[in-house]
Amino acid sequence: MDQWNGSTAVVTGASSGIGAEFAAALAQRQCNLVLVARREDRLRELATRIEGEYGVQVRVVSADLSLRSEVDRLAQTLAASGTPIDVLVNNAGFATHGGFSDQDAARMNDEVAVNVAAVVALTRALLPGMVSRGRGAVVNIASTAAFQPIPFMAVYGATKAFVLSFTEALWGELEGTGVDALALCPGATDTEFFDVAGEAASVGKRQTPAQVVATAMRALDQRRQPPSVVSGCANRWSSRLPLLLPRRATIRVTRKLVGAK
Ligand SMILES: NC(=O)c1ccc[n+]([C@@H]2O[C@H](COP(=O)([O-])OP(=O)(O)OC[C@H]3O[C@@H](n4cnc5c(N)ncnc54)[C@H](OP(=O)(O)O)[C@@H]3O)[C@@H](O)[C@H]2O)c1
Repeated sequence: MDQWNGSTAVVTGASSGIGAEFAAALAQRQCNLVLVARREDRLRELATRIEGEYGVQVRVVSADLSLRSEVDRLAQTLAASGTPIDVLVNNAGFATHGGFSDQDAARMNDEVAVNVAAVVALTRALLPGMVSRGRGAVVNIASTAAFQPIPFMAVYGATKAFVLSFTEALWGELEGTGVDALALCPGATDTEFFDVAGEAASVGKRQTPAQVVATAMRALDQRRQPPSVVSGCANRWSSRLPLLLPRRATIRVTRKLVGAK
């Protein structure tokens, strides 16, 4: 029997892209779902499709994860439901692109709130239950942006470096508990991400969300699950380059690739 059969997973950012794909992949393995994002209509559409296709239970919670009050409300809603949460996929996130000083300050705060603060808060809310039951997984979506500083996407790169470091540290804490932590690092992926960040943020050939999620599911299925995984062969290679190049060269190359085009 699949390890996820009959479990319940929370997927944030499930209204599009990688999150919607995660929801479908987990449902295919008979995992019940709680789908979270701001666009409730999109979540409901996906819930109806997934329930029809896979016969699992799907609940929808609309929440703006840039607001601490909404993150807390989501955590309280999950606790009040009494259903143990076995899998948390912290996927909601977005990027700003452009010179740091030109960016809207409130928008950058939201970026840190969604990409970092909500990830920490939801993990803190749900992980203790998983550990006490001796099973579960936290999957945090980092990025290949985590492996080097990114001029013109300074905040986004830093948020993803945080997610990678945070998740790998949890992996170290959780060994032997029966609970997994995995940081998934996609490179450019064909989603609505670039509608938000702008096309200039896109570097390299894009993968599909299905390819990215398959990478994560394969990693979770491994008996010795790794702390993090990069999706795609080219992305795996490029994510190692910063280890080989002098820091200045890495930053200059990244600036050329990501700078205003
Ligand atoms: N696409 C890429 O090239 C790429 C590469 C590496 C990593 N990633 C990461 O992958 C994750 C998923 O992104 P994606 O590519 O699938 O992009 P996407 O299609 O734009 O999806 C982003 C999701 O995040 C949700 N979200 C954004 N702000 C939110 C907020 N304030 N509150 C609640 N939910 C919010 C969106 O839902 P609502 O708008 O409905 O709230 C949407 O469901 C992100 O963490 C992103 O950083 C993407």
